Amino acid sequence: MGEGIRVAAADEIDEGTALKVDAEVAGTSDDIAVFHSDNGSYYALDDTCTHEEASLSEGWIEDTEVECPIHSARFCLRTGEALCLPAMVNAKAHRVEVRDDGIYLHPGEAPGEAPE
Ligand code: FES
Repeated sequence: MGEGIRVAAADEIDEGTALKVDAEVAGTSDDIAVFHSDNGSYYALDDTCTHEEASLSEGWIEDTEVECPIHSARFCLRTGEALCLPAMVNAKAHRVEVRDDGIYLHPGEAPGEAPE
């Protein structure tokens, strides 16, 4: 478990946008996109689309889905599941937690039942 990495203040990521956390900061092989959905919840996925080289943090966010900005594959923000072609490989989801006015990322931890 652990404390997680504080990636932003709670009001720093506008609804409907995402923050890209560098792999160096996250300690992961890929950058991680932290999404603040228009439904008010936070989610995190590996930033690189599983289809080709595109940054999902630049995609379109709607409720529990993000659409890749290049070829429009959609991924579930909760699980990383690839929801339509051309993506056929799921993205990796990570746990995000909002506490003490900060947004904390838990790289490599499954979102599970953690509070959103
Ligand atoms: S790069 Fe994302 S769908 Fe093609």
